[in-house]
Amino acid sequence: MVGPFLPDDEKMPALREALPSTAAGIYLNTGTCGPIPRETAHAMAEAEAWELRTGRADRNYWEDSLERRAEARAAVAAVLGTGPNRIALTHATSDGMNIATWAVDWRDGDRVVTTSLEHPGLLAPLRALRDRRGVELAIADIEMGGDPAAVLAALDRAITPRTRLVALSHVTWATGARLPIREIVELAHGRDALVAVDGAQSAGAMHVSMEDLGPDFYAVPAQKWLLGPDGIGAVYCAESVMDRPRLAFAGWASFESMDLAAEGELWPDARRFEIAGFHQPSVLGFARSAAWLAMYVGLPWAYERIARLAGEAVTMLAEVPGVEVLTPSGGVSGLVTFRIAGWKAAAALRELEQRTLCIARTVPPLDAIRISVGFFNTEGELRRFRDGVALVAENTPETMPHRPRMEVLRGGVD
Ligand SMILES: Cc1ncc(COP(=O)(O)O)c(C=O)c1O
Repeated sequence: MVGPFLPDDEKMPALREALPSTAAGIYLNTGTCGPIPRETAHAMAEAEAWELRTGRADRNYWEDSLERRAEARAAVAAVLGTGPNRIALTHATSDGMNIATWAVDWRDGDRVVTTSLEHPGLLAPLRALRDRRGVELAIADIEMGGDPAAVLAALDRAITPRTRLVALSHVTWATGARLPIREIVELAHGRDALVAVDGAQSAGAMHVSMEDLGPDFYAVPAQKWLLGPDGIGAVYCAESVMDRPRLAFAGWASFESMDLAAEGELWPDARRFEIAGFHQPSVLGFARSAAWLAMYVGLPWAYERIARLAGEAVTMLAEVPGVEVLTPSGGVSGLVTFRIAGWKAAAALRELEQRTLCIARTVPPLDAIRISVGFFNTEGELRRFRDGVALVAENTPETMPHRPRMEVLRGGVD
């Protein structure tokens, strides 16, 4: 049984046993999708079976589904350091960024500001905004994102009096830099712009508090550091945005009541940003995973371990001749991005996958490899991965010793 206060030598095996896919290889890609806890998978399977047996249409199911949604909002609220009434469920981080983008009553000549290290989940809604409304899209160049003063200075130059929204990540997907959100919020609010934060790489990976940071929107996914299922997420909506926007999207779930003349009351809280139903087993799974993290793993323990191990990964990789670490040393979250001299990232990662059984990804715009260091990873795994990187770095694609594919070893865990 996992418990937050077990000593690490007992806790780690218990945690890894509770996260079966951590045995499928060196699991270094939580930034794409985290390992699902056994308990979450069981709860979801039970919910599916119950739906099959009893259907999804009776009053009990409906009432239960409302409770499950409330539970999921509360579990996310606890991670984000806010109240459940500030949380709307969504289907993805990208959904939340769309909600934020269209929460502004855009006028001709307006401007939206973002940074040069953003994910398409954030850039795509801004691009749609530019294409549809002619809003000027300004991209502040923040290089690798590692110098908070330089990031602030770049945003200071970009945020003009016509800027209505600043949309950016807390942790950049490409380099793992942690951006100074609180200071950016102060800067933007001082110029009457809203701030929408993409929290895909921060929520569940590091301490995050809406009260401390003060954004207007903060969008998160279930499937990454919160270890939940795909196709579900949430967005924090500050009190400040409740009266401002006329809704761009709405559905029956946005309203507390509505009559046949379309008159009725919006929910007074963030639920007004929800539109319709969700896959109920996923709602349950989201709540279970977030609660499992908080209650059994312990969030402070997980955050401390992620930061420490990711810091060690930066140091280990930086010591390998031929490796260039792009992750700024001061801004460590769980992501570590690096290049290997003489190698295209995709080719180097293929070698690493075969030789170390690592699960990681590339960052195509930087032609780099990105690993995500989770609390469930071990120092031994990081050393094995580093040894693989050292072997690749000692070679070129032409001199790499031949190695047969080892995929047969994957996928044997229940
Ligand atoms: C920073 C960032 N934003 C957004 C996304 C997209 O997330 P989602 O699939 O939840 O929309 C990702 C990852 O895929 C990401 O890393």
